[in-house]
Amino acid sequence: MAETTTRSASPKGFRSADQGWPALHRIPHPPRRLPLLGDVLGANRSRPLQDSMRLGRQLGPIFRRKALGKEFVFVWGAALAADLADETRFAKHVGLGIANLRPVAGDALFTAYNHEPNWQLAHDVLAPGFSREAMAGYHPMMLDVAGRLTDHWDRAALAGQPVDVPGDMTKLTLETIARTGFGHDFGSFERSRPHPFVTAMVGTLAYAQRLNTVPAPFLLSSAARRNDADIAYLNRTVDDLVRRRRGGSGGSGDLLDRMLETAHPETGERLSLENVRRQVITFLVAGHETTSGALSFALYYLARHPEVAARARAEVDQVWGDTERPGYDQVAKLRYVRRVLDESLRLWPTAPAFAREALEDTVLAGEHPMRRGAWALVLTPLLHRDPAAWGPDAERFDPDRFDPKAVRSRPPHTFKPFGTGARACIGRQFALHEATLVLGLLLRRYTLRPDPEYRLRVTERLTLMPDGLRMGVERRAVGAEARCPVSGVEG
Ligand code: HEM
Repeated sequence: MAETTTRSASPKGFRSADQGWPALHRIPHPPRRLPLLGDVLGANRSRPLQDSMRLGRQLGPIFRRKALGKEFVFVWGAALAADLADETRFAKHVGLGIANLRPVAGDALFTAYNHEPNWQLAHDVLAPGFSREAMAGYHPMMLDVAGRLTDHWDRAALAGQPVDVPGDMTKLTLETIARTGFGHDFGSFERSRPHPFVTAMVGTLAYAQRLNTVPAPFLLSSAARRNDADIAYLNRTVDDLVRRRRGGSGGSGDLLDRMLETAHPETGERLSLENVRRQVITFLVAGHETTSGALSFALYYLARHPEVAARARAEVDQVWGDTERPGYDQVAKLRYVRRVLDESLRLWPTAPAFAREALEDTVLAGEHPMRRGAWALVLTPLLHRDPAAWGPDAERFDPDRFDPKAVRSRPPHTFKPFGTGARACIGRQFALHEATLVLGLLLRRYTLRPDPEYRLRVTERLTLMPDGLRMGVERRAVGAEARCPVSGVEG
């Protein structure tokens, strides 16, 4: 296999924009461009996304950046992004950070090139794992994992200690996908330090991001060795898990069972063991990091906007009443909580960009000619703040933007936290169900006390996360809200 080591990670199919965009000169770039190095003056290498947001605000809805001899086109204007969503002319482009993940995830769903046969095979085999029935089956497990979080927060509340929001949300979402997808328990809540799987995973994501900012991978040779070790650890963990399952410790029709046992409905083909390993890693990574960030940002905004938290809490009390363990159907009824989540994903979509490539020679939005294979990166956080679609107060947190009437009044393709088209997120419903359920449980049980000193800082490791977010939590006193979601025991 050509792609098992990190050093072979050059993005396949890459085209610098000067090859693919015949009228590139019409697209603005930052001032003070250096002859060899490009647009590097003032660039922030640890926060490339927020750097691009800063430039986008200065340069407008389409702009370009050049680094180390390669040029990229960025798009965030609503009209341009809507045109890129046209599946007859554009498709997902696997480049930059995503291509850098190929050594670990290969042709699994997220990192597969469009032409690779394993994409369609895995998509068809795994899509039923996200059906309504499948989701209803995961719901009790999601509740059990949430119970471990609330046990943990109860202890913090009792001790008057603040909670580490991103840390705890990462434990929660990792345990949820591991349990529902693969019948596995990482024991995250019983550990004081992150599970080594999380450390290895964060290491590979950060390395994939760093690869974009150095002229040649050999400059990262010690980091590359660490990355190889991280990948080897991820592989070993997953291989053990698969071995145990094949040895007979059965799941209950979870994703792993599906990967191992389901044949394609038409061709009868099955996923190879090599591909199963890559899918399991993909789902463990894609299935928790982004949802953890989404929950963390939502809790940040809820703590900062007590009037929004009060309205959301009133909805939970009204819809769930005294129910000890809210049922599957009762989660989608939390309409306002869901709007809080959507609004948090609008301002900070935790997978903050996706790339689109031209399937044939075409003209983007009637203005920018593109050759077949040319591509652009859609900057979702700026698309979600484009005043043309979201109004002059687009930077303000306001969940009522997701009131159905407000949604209908906006043009299509203006809200894309889960990407677009055939390669959009397969786990969207899973993430939304899990996050809405957990926000409902936390609002019902605790009052959130923000740290007045905290100023939002966003860290980047391909995904976004509020850095160092801690807050106080206080148990609400009476009624169903004081019950534990697992046992229903009053505390
Ligand atoms: C709030 C949480 C989540 C966000 C913001 C998110 C975002 C995204 C985005 C933007 C894409 C498209 C990437 C591209 O076009 O290059 C994507 C794809 C994907 N996501 Fe998610 N995701 C989330 C949760 C999940 C969960 C819970 C799972 C699994 C259980 C998951 C699994 C995947 C997979 C497998 C793909 C690749 C789909 C394909 O190409 O066929 N994601 N996600």
